[in-house]
This record gives sequence, C-alpha cells and structure tokens, in this order.
Amino acid sequence: MTTETKKYTEFTNPNLEILFTAEQIKERVAQLGKQITKDYADKDLVLVGVLKGSCVFLSDLMREIDLKLSIDFMAVSSYKDAQVSSGDVEILKDLTHPIRGKDVIVVEDIVDTGLTLSHLLELLKTRGANSLKVATLLDKPEPRVVKNLKIDYCGFQIPNKFVVGYGLDAANRYRNLPFIAVLKEAQSAE
Ligand code: IMP
Ligand code: MG
Repeated sequence: MTTETKKYTEFTNPNLEILFTAEQIKERVAQLGKQITKDYADKDLVLVGVLKGSCVFLSDLMREIDLKLSIDFMAVSSYKDAQVSSGDVEILKDLTHPIRGKDVIVVEDIVDTGLTLSHLLELLKTRGANSLKVATLLDKPEPRVVKNLKIDYCGFQIPNKFVVGYGLDAANRYRNLPFIAVLKEAQSAE
C-alpha cells in the first residue's frame, strides 16, 4: 500500500484488489514506448486510440515515444455496461484523418474475447495503411474467441478476472484510478 494510492477513496473499497501499481505500469509503458521508438524510427506513425478505455494508456504511451507521430481516435461499442462480451461491435466514432500510406498502431486498453479488435482491424484494413499493428496494455487470453489475433505490443497478460483502473471501467466508474485492480464482485454504479 503506497501513500500515493491511499488518497483515492476508491482504494478503501474492499472489492478492489491491486494487480499492477502505478509504478509498475509506468515502467512497462516506458519499455513499450522505447520499443516502438526503435521499430518506427523511419515510419509515418499514427496511434489510433480506441475510446474510452485506452485514453490513459495512449496519453502515457505517446509521451514515451520519441518520434514524430500523430494520434486519432475511434469509438466502438462492445460491452454496453455489462461485464460479459456481447459480440456486437458498432462504430460510434470514426477516424478524423485518413490513414492511407501511414503506419498505424491501434492502441487498446485490453483484449478479451478479441471481437472488438478483430472487427476494428477488418475495417481499418480497407483504409490503405502502409502497416497496421496492435498495442494493448492488457491481454486476457483465456476468454479469447478470435484465436488468430496478433498482438504486437502488450503491457501485461492477466488472468480471467474483471479489472478496472488506468482507463478501464465498470459501468463507467474507476477509469481515473492510477493503478489496475481486480474488481472482485460486480457492483452497481452509484
Ligand atoms: P473484447 O471485444 O471482448 O476483446 O473486449 C474488449 C473491450 O471490452 C475492451 O476494450 C474493454 O472496453 C472491455 N473489457 C474487456 N475486459 C474488461 C475488463 O476486465 N475490465 C474492463 N473492461 C473490459
Ligand atoms: Mg475498450
């Protein structure tokens, strides 16, 4: 328990069990940023964040990439506040700039069944990018439905538990936590 995490009232919630501290996340995100900096040295990089969950990861990751780059966002619906995947993926917000000829990394918070990401990749493949890769902070391989999904940059693999914090939510709550925690029991949003 660090003093940094104590100031969050959510921390007193006995339903939260810390999986990765803010320090552990920072260290891992810095490693990913270094790797991407190496891999994309002579490329025209665009980071495409998948809203809303990837917003925290994307904003930390891009500051660890020492290259000229641009960012854009897409929003897709998947879970709709439920804690099981519906398999329904709908584009709610599209890119604002074309990605033709660009080197794109789709930035996700977590890959679970893989349905969201595979639908998104299918769509983005039709847009003429020079390359298309995936970075996710978390990979939860156990419930994967789309088996051949390639994740190029992964922060951490996690067990089949529902996690919140650092952008990840349960019914839109907990995104602001600086750490990642397992939500032990489903709760209604207050
Ligand atoms: P998938 O389509 O099942 O891979 O789910 C991807 C999306 O579901 C993620 O981008 C998250 O928004 C959400 N999701 C999956 N697992 C979790 C979790 O453990 N906590 C919070 N959101 C999750
Ligand atoms: Mg998401």
